[in-house]
Amino acid sequence: MTDLAHVSFVEYNLDSVADLKGTIIVFLNNKGKLDRFGRRVNRLCKGVLEKAISKEGGLDGSFLLTAPPANMKADQVILAKTEDIKETHDYRKLGATLVGRVRTENSHFLLDSEKKLVEIMFGAVMNSYNFDAHKSEAKSASKSLVGMCGKPSDAEDLFKEKRAIADGVFFTRDLVNEPANVLTTTEFANRLEALSKLGLTVKTIDEPEMEKLGMGALLGVGQGSESPSKIVVMEWNGGGDKKPLALLGKGVVFDTGGISLKPAAGMEDMTMDMGGAGTVAGVMKTLALRKAKANVVGLVGLVENMPDARAQRPGDVVTSMKGDTIEVINTDAEGRLVLADVLWYAQETYQPTAMIDLATLTGAIIIGLGHENAGVFSNDDGFCNNFLKAAAAESEGAWRMPLGQAYDDMLKSRIADMKNIGGRSAGSVTAAQFLQRFVKEGCPWIHLDIAGVASVKSSTDLSPKGATGWGVRALNRLVADYYE
Ligand code: BES
Ligand code: ZN
Ligand code: ZN
Repeated sequence: MTDLAHVSFVEYNLDSVADLKGTIIVFLNNKGKLDRFGRRVNRLCKGVLEKAISKEGGLDGSFLLTAPPANMKADQVILAKTEDIKETHDYRKLGATLVGRVRTENSHFLLDSEKKLVEIMFGAVMNSYNFDAHKSEAKSASKSLVGMCGKPSDAEDLFKEKRAIADGVFFTRDLVNEPANVLTTTEFANRLEALSKLGLTVKTIDEPEMEKLGMGALLGVGQGSESPSKIVVMEWNGGGDKKPLALLGKGVVFDTGGISLKPAAGMEDMTMDMGGAGTVAGVMKTLALRKAKANVVGLVGLVENMPDARAQRPGDVVTSMKGDTIEVINTDAEGRLVLADVLWYAQETYQPTAMIDLATLTGAIIIGLGHENAGVFSNDDGFCNNFLKAAAAESEGAWRMPLGQAYDDMLKSRIADMKNIGGRSAGSVTAAQFLQRFVKEGCPWIHLDIAGVASVKSSTDLSPKGATGWGVRALNRLVADYYE
């Protein structure tokens, strides 16, 4: 598990500034002026911060002093401006940028507003993630970030929730970054079962039980793998006896495509095909850590899609738990087969008030929306708008896509109740349409296609390249704003 940077808050003390070791970060206020903390640092630095500001055009971004004068113990001083900042997310982004410039283990952020300080430091923590579990060289010690402000206990109170969120996001990122020979279905289930120490009720459904339940769609996907298929259910009961919100995740620990084998180039990226399950796990961890006053159940379908003598073939017909039969035209369209049974099981077992599934479901969503937005599909406008608001508030890109009868018609099969693919056009929509066939009438549902956002090749606002943890913040906020 990648550890969070250690974050603490101390009361601002003018006299101690000269003795601070590591990096000192001060800020220009919204008028472009040094605050009282900055003025003190400026005096110690013999006026060099003022000089940087007074240059024509003012300070551009941030100013870095790598060799502070001898009267200071610090190794670096950074001056950052906040004038252009309008939204909470901009403070987080600033924190993320700043932590990237810190070359020392310890850093002190000096700011008089607890609220802004907490957002900046949250951004810094989010971007300080480094997946080095498989590097043999000495591991970098996790950073220590200290906030100096007027009321450190207020800041600490505000930061508690942020720490729970960052912890959930790091959990998701670790799962998504982990290679498939390490994160087998069994290892994945073990890591989720360990969450029970946080107060979650976690249980695993194994293959014999799934067979009894008639989960032919899910089992067909995993039957070519040595790793046993599993469903892991995580219950968080913080909201009395209300019916839960259900979060469901596609957890394909590796997707070779099966007998409809994927091309070699880029196939290694399919270690992230469990991104939906990873996000569900991260949200459940956050909810438990912050003891959310809501009932939420997380269900993940864990399988490996491998070609093998026992693997399912194109043309096979499988029977889902719902009872509907599916003609498997393409074994690479496996995520929907997994989710079909998880969706049905969730409704039969929990009668959820609403369901959200997350899945790295289609390459087509990347063609449509790139890496900026997840595709959002829903049968309920009110529910969908609540989610879109939560995602916007967290600056996590999400864009609504259509559903409709004409798309559903594309799934008609000659020999079974449906086919598992629609054809070349509207690939993400027909995939969503397939899932909707397993959503009962009247159950509000959202499908999030996160193929483009779960793991990316270049860094994003609050995340280094690789797994992003997209969705943990939005879903946590959705729960906080509408279910608590
Ligand atoms: N796991 C893939 C989708 C994917 C692609 C995720 C790229 C992340 C990055 C999914 O199982 C898949 O293979 N989908 C096929 C569906 C097709 C056969 C209808 C696809 O998108 O090509
Ligand atoms: Zn696939
Ligand atoms: Zn897949």
